[in-house]
Amino acid sequence: MDEKSKSADLPKVLVLGLDPLGKSAVGSIFAANQIIELPYDLEKFMETTIDPQPLMVFFGPAPEGVNLIEVAQISRMQFQNSAIFFVTPSRTGFDRKIIQKNGFTDAFLMPIDLDSLKEAIKELVARAVSGTKVYRNVQLVDLQPGQALDFDTYMFMPVNKKHIKFSAEGDEVDPERLDRLKSKSMASLQVTTDQIKKFYEFTARQLKSIDGNARLSETEKRDRMKTAVRTIMTGMFNDSSVEATVDAGRSIVSDCQEIIKSYISMGDSKSSGGDWYGRLLAATGAEGGVYNHSGNVATFSALFSMASGIGKPEDLALAGLLHDMGLADVPADIQEKPESERTREEQETYKKHVEHTLNMIKFRKMILPDAVTKAISQHHERYSGTGYPKGLAGNRIAQEAQVLALADEFDYRTMTKEGRPRMTPSAAFKQIYDENLKNASQAQFDLEILKRFIHMFPEEEKAS
Ligand SMILES: [Fe+2]
Ligand SMILES: [Fe+2]
Repeated sequence: MDEKSKSADLPKVLVLGLDPLGKSAVGSIFAANQIIELPYDLEKFMETTIDPQPLMVFFGPAPEGVNLIEVAQISRMQFQNSAIFFVTPSRTGFDRKIIQKNGFTDAFLMPIDLDSLKEAIKELVARAVSGTKVYRNVQLVDLQPGQALDFDTYMFMPVNKKHIKFSAEGDEVDPERLDRLKSKSMASLQVTTDQIKKFYEFTARQLKSIDGNARLSETEKRDRMKTAVRTIMTGMFNDSSVEATVDAGRSIVSDCQEIIKSYISMGDSKSSGGDWYGRLLAATGAEGGVYNHSGNVATFSALFSMASGIGKPEDLALAGLLHDMGLADVPADIQEKPESERTREEQETYKKHVEHTLNMIKFRKMILPDAVTKAISQHHERYSGTGYPKGLAGNRIAQEAQVLALADEFDYRTMTKEGRPRMTPSAAFKQIYDENLKNASQAQFDLEILKRFIHMFPEEEKAS
């Protein structure tokens, strides 16, 4: 009981729509003034600010018309660092694994899980009190001998579940030592969340310096860039210690997004007032934890541009952010249907989104580089000439548009759908490549462009 008496500086928890048993579990651990009860209303919830962030958020069964995935997503967006628990007395549709995949930290069925709920709460409280650090997996790209890191790195030892320091801020990391670490698949490098921003900036600088390195030939540059981009993307995706869940998928994309954001803001801090990209990301709602197609496509497009040498990464990032703006004028039910289920008329309505986007750009008097406008207007054209809106074929389609289209396809295939683990980048790329190859008369991509990415997505060893 003495824990309750010093509640002033103890963390807060949020409670939405809990059943009496769930409530009593929370109430048995937290003092009344630590528990904030909110109405189960997602719109109001989105406006809730609590500083510092609550330690945990407890959701009861979702009210009519509210979908659990949405609950998890919105909660993640509001409170990135809070644990989100789903507590329900209803057995119908209760599948802990699926609920976790959809973004909840954990799920508990009342009354049978009452004790494990209490345990989970206590464990988190204990961790918060002891100030345990939060670690993120990272990949260091293009590390050169003698290069110093401006953040600490740690190694995770799965055997005793401990983190040990691998290098300290300011240390030179010996690439050989790093290789040795990588060859032991048991360990990967980690950075604490309070230093993760430094890691993003470091990675962006690494990418910039490959690009700006006058001593490298074009081919050497491209090779190093490809390796770097592959390391950033697949290294994180393939990390076996991270399960293929919504959460894992999201954190990878947001890591990449942060790197691209740093990269772009480094590029033209003088000419256009610094962080235009960051502001645009925020304005288009592409920032934060929630799945956002445009934000992802922007990130993938920029990475693909770096790896292939096609276009400028900042142009492709911008095109990615804007490419589907016009979907706002297409009814949601048509958007949600897979293409194969749309009627002819619905498909025609859907296709109009390209035109709507271009109109919006005109209407807002946005002045865009030519490559950006082309990429946007041609992102549904197909190399075989079977795309829309113009049915352009072959070289009449801008290469930037093909890179954007690849990022678009890539995002559709790697994003996590409800209850289904995401496809890995390599698997997604292989699928796109094979489809393109098998059905040349319908081909979406120039095979020569796809080939530039093959080495970026190595075939995976079959996990049986
Ligand atoms: Fe589109
Ligand atoms: Fe799209």
